[in-house]
Amino acid sequence: MADIMEKLENAKNFVSARAGLVPEVGIVLGSGLGDFAQRMEIVSAVDYSDIPDFPRSTVEGHQGRFLFGCVGKTPVVVMQGRVHYYEGYSMQDVIMPARLMAQMGISTLLLTNAAGGVNKDFAAGDLMLITDHIAAFVPNPLIGSNADSIGTRFPDMSEVYDRSLREQVLACADKLGISLRQGVYCQLTGPSYETPAEIRMLSAFGADAVGMSTAVEAIAARHAGLKVCGISLITNMAAGISPVPLSHEEVKQAADAAAKRFGDLVENFISGLAKPTC
Ligand code: HPA
Repeated sequence: MADIMEKLENAKNFVSARAGLVPEVGIVLGSGLGDFAQRMEIVSAVDYSDIPDFPRSTVEGHQGRFLFGCVGKTPVVVMQGRVHYYEGYSMQDVIMPARLMAQMGISTLLLTNAAGGVNKDFAAGDLMLITDHIAAFVPNPLIGSNADSIGTRFPDMSEVYDRSLREQVLACADKLGISLRQGVYCQLTGPSYETPAEIRMLSAFGADAVGMSTAVEAIAARHAGLKVCGISLITNMAAGISPVPLSHEEVKQAADAAAKRFGDLVENFISGLAKPTC
């Protein structure tokens, strides 16, 4: 455990010295959603590859850097690209960015992702506010000796996605006239997409959307005492529901098409979280 805390401390010292502000909110941008950065007033950028002992994103459509700046009057740190378990990193590495943002001082973490629609009422292009998750098919990221200085051994997960933040997102969507689905996100390891039989199983288990990220980051964030919010962009209907084979190209194209709606919603929500610091 000393090793994790030491790595975190080194990364924190490196990044904080270059940040230029203390962020209040962390935002993780999912596949193809990196353009949201255009809506920020950017103060500094730190490439993951420059940070000591830090995992790097190898996925196309993920840029791999922290951006510090303001959205409206809210000081934020934005992750333009995340790291995934399927890239070969340990779960401890996958959650290191969330832990680092917690160490840097954020109190709220917004997780976004591209996901497949499991709920047949959904359609490609829908935005879904995450109400809860299923992480039972991936290794728990807190396995191993507990980092007591971060959080408790057995953290409660009864309300991972903060109710009050969800109400604020819903109010923003309403104000902007953006239709917003709500549902349960299930994380699988990937990188292969699911089979139709797996999608039928997930549907029977209560999942509305499926993807390859987010839930383990949310667990780490709750362990560290952060308030968490999650938004999925349904880039495609899942295997067996969609009549065509799935591809990362399709995911990126759908993300591009939804970029404005997604950006409007996130910008409005984050601006509303401002404390008077920016
Ligand atoms: N399955 C898993 N992950 C995804 C999907 C999907 O259909 N679409 C985007 N990310």
